[in-house]
Amino acid sequence: MVEMNPLERLWVNSVNERYVPSLWRGLFTEAELQEELRWLEVGAGKGYVTAEAVDAFDVEEAVVSDYDPGQVAAARRYLGGNLGNHEVSPEFASVDVLELPFEDSSFDVVAASLVLHFVEPRRLRGFEHVPYAIEEVDRVLDDDGCFLSLNFTRNTRVRRTLRNQGFRVEYQQRHLPFLESYCYRKTG
Ligand SMILES: C[S@@+](CC[C@H](N)C(=O)[O-])C[C@H]1O[C@@H](n2cnc3c(N)ncnc32)[C@H](O)[C@@H]1O
Repeated sequence: MVEMNPLERLWVNSVNERYVPSLWRGLFTEAELQEELRWLEVGAGKGYVTAEAVDAFDVEEAVVSDYDPGQVAAARRYLGGNLGNHEVSPEFASVDVLELPFEDSSFDVVAASLVLHFVEPRRLRGFEHVPYAIEEVDRVLDDDGCFLSLNFTRNTRVRRTLRNQGFRVEYQQRHLPFLESYCYRKTG
């Protein structure tokens, strides 16, 4: 696990919140997800992606997680005031995406917003931990489940690893010159 430095923490809890939810709304209008879905967000930061998902889909169960307990507390506060009249009551967990404490096939959707590069000590340059994160996402996703991810655009290694793990790109959206969101569907 790699702690965020204070600047990253400030950025995640202020700047991201202003711009990132609208990118996810764009993906959510295109993604076709099943009813009554079991949702897991990893590296959730403040949890606003889960708030958007609950608005957009029929989320029956939600787990909002981040390895940093401070972020889990921030997500708990944020979602406490931002779920409107929705009935879902998320669980919150301090969890490392490299070692997810969930049974196989527990979720229909796993979402990761700007997380994959953060599991590497060398951020965008390293690629030692990402394959383990992807294996864990694959393991906890049910057959036919979706991995939704907002990534930096040129991360071909992520796409290749997901493809080798049996995922296909069902939908892809370019947002800025350097950001792209994906819906990867598990195949067989
Ligand atoms: C750039 S922030 C993104 C936060 C939020 N998803 C967003 O879109 O604003 C990356 C997040 O991943 C979390 N993180 C980093 N490494 C992690 C790991 N190994 N397991 C789970 N979460 C991790 C950090 O604590 C941080 O909240």
